[in-house]
Amino acid sequence: MCGIIGYSGHRPAVPLIIEGLHRLEYRGYDSSGVCFVQNKELKVVRAEGKLKLLEDKLARMEVSLATTGMGHTRWATHGAPTEDNAHPHRSSRGDLAIVHNGIIENYQECKAELLAKGFEFSSQTDTEVLANLIADEHSSETSLLKAFASALERARGAYAVALLSRQEPDTVYAARQSAPLLLGLGSGENFIASDIPAFLPYTRDVVFLEDGEIARITPTSWEVFSLADLKPMEKKISRIEWDLQAAQKGGYKHFMLKEIFEQPMTISDCAAGRVSMSRFEAHLPELEAIAKPSRLRIVACGTSYHAGIWAQILFENWARIPTTVEIASEFRYRNALLSPGETLLVVSQSGETADTLAALRIAKERGSPILGICNVIGSSISREADAIIFTQAGPEISVASTKAMTAQMTVLMLMAMHWSKNGGSLNRDEARLILNGLSDLPAKLSGILPTLKSEAATLAARFASSKGMFFLGRGQSYPLALEGALKVKELSYIHAEGYASGEMKHGPIALIDQDFPSFVLLPNDDLFAKTRSNMEEVAARKGPVIALTNPPKSGLDIKGCETWLMPEAFGPLNSFLMLPALQLFSYEAAAYLGKDVDQPRNLAKSVTVE
Ligand code: G6P
Repeated sequence: MCGIIGYSGHRPAVPLIIEGLHRLEYRGYDSSGVCFVQNKELKVVRAEGKLKLLEDKLARMEVSLATTGMGHTRWATHGAPTEDNAHPHRSSRGDLAIVHNGIIENYQECKAELLAKGFEFSSQTDTEVLANLIADEHSSETSLLKAFASALERARGAYAVALLSRQEPDTVYAARQSAPLLLGLGSGENFIASDIPAFLPYTRDVVFLEDGEIARITPTSWEVFSLADLKPMEKKISRIEWDLQAAQKGGYKHFMLKEIFEQPMTISDCAAGRVSMSRFEAHLPELEAIAKPSRLRIVACGTSYHAGIWAQILFENWARIPTTVEIASEFRYRNALLSPGETLLVVSQSGETADTLAALRIAKERGSPILGICNVIGSSISREADAIIFTQAGPEISVASTKAMTAQMTVLMLMAMHWSKNGGSLNRDEARLILNGLSDLPAKLSGILPTLKSEAATLAARFASSKGMFFLGRGQSYPLALEGALKVKELSYIHAEGYASGEMKHGPIALIDQDFPSFVLLPNDDLFAKTRSNMEEVAARKGPVIALTNPPKSGLDIKGCETWLMPEAFGPLNSFLMLPALQLFSYEAAAYLGKDVDQPRNLAKSVTVE
């Protein structure tokens, strides 16, 4: 979702800001803009569409003298993705501009007050209201810092915001409330940004802002204040250890493809230090201080939610913990009952998803212990959870999540094993098979990925023009079916449904005909025969069926069914081979249809608004 970068230093600011915006493109956007002070004038340049269009405009201007500025990629919330609605937004009194990620909920009331005071508006955005609020406060308050703080006190909602004023041409102000923002500290230059890659070529020293904090950067100083009383805050400087290489394509055509192919490494990185091969146990040091929950409530969104459903079976079967899984945006508004001792487990790649974060805060207020699984160090969820387990998957740039899910499944499986030691039902033989299988998995997956990719390409060429498709599965294959369908929708804009195979006959089967293929997840497990019967039901209605299954297995000679073979793995480990196959199919279908794989239309990587 919207990307922000602000710079105050000694280099030409505009090219550096554009470069930073490119590294934030993965967040998803539909317009962009920059703002800087040059020759004592505040300049704002904006464009609808991709960054290239903004660059074309800037190429026709002289911008090299500005050494302070800010830029923004906008993902539309209030108002269409037009140039007028693009950020930065200037106050109608002219001297200051802001960029903003989030939603100002009371913008209509504020706008009415400002209109009555003679402020003017040229966009439909809530952001322009905030720019005018700051200008309004500044008319009675000489310090811009105080005016900024007072305006933010009047605004209700979620925001990360940066402010530049003509009167202080070397200073960028920034503040956050429920949306990510951090500082990058350089030598003779400082940065603010929504995410680390924006400034990583220039510095690895970062300060994570908390909700209710305001920051001020100049080329040679950085300060953080509390919004409530403007007292200076002591902040810790963190050092980023990963490098930009990890956030680049590394020879792959798309980030998504690179991230799919990184999954063998994801599994081993994620399991490193968390298993004992001599005792056949999983041990997560992060859970040491935490009692085994009497009940578990998993809350997440999107792909992370699917990882949660996948793990439910393991928490119940192995660890014997009653577990429910919920979509965060539903959980937060239904006054959910949490029983004493029930632990909330939030799962999030970014650690910034607004609904998941809100669910965490609600449960925390009610006194529930909060556990988090997260990929981004320093993210809001990682800081607010009582205990956090990092998935250690490295930066995920493609909007469509792939390796993050594999990492979440790995961590969730190890958590279930960890808690199975205390009153669970996983016996030593099974634990041995799982951990041996897990250590073989990276090599097994690496070995099949190139073949899966070419098989996926062949299937994509045959089925990408279908009017719709099903993904069907039972047990742990059910969340994979949901994920397979989600990926196809996200990337190819083809209508796809993920369904529990046994539930199909209660309605969806009416859609089946010869132009409506079904991908059936059919690992060689206890549910094989049941799922196979559902395949027959589809084939009997002339629907093409592609079964993702393990050889050798008799009973698959069903007319109209073909197989897509995966090597066999033990129990839940099959999912780690089938998931990449589904990801590759959606990738190839999107590529075949000529879609923008890494930045699908209308989507954002990190959804920081509800
Ligand atoms: C967005 C992304 C999805 C992701 C979901 C949850 O919709 O496009 O890929 O699964 O948010 O994100 P999280 O960061 O909380 O896992």
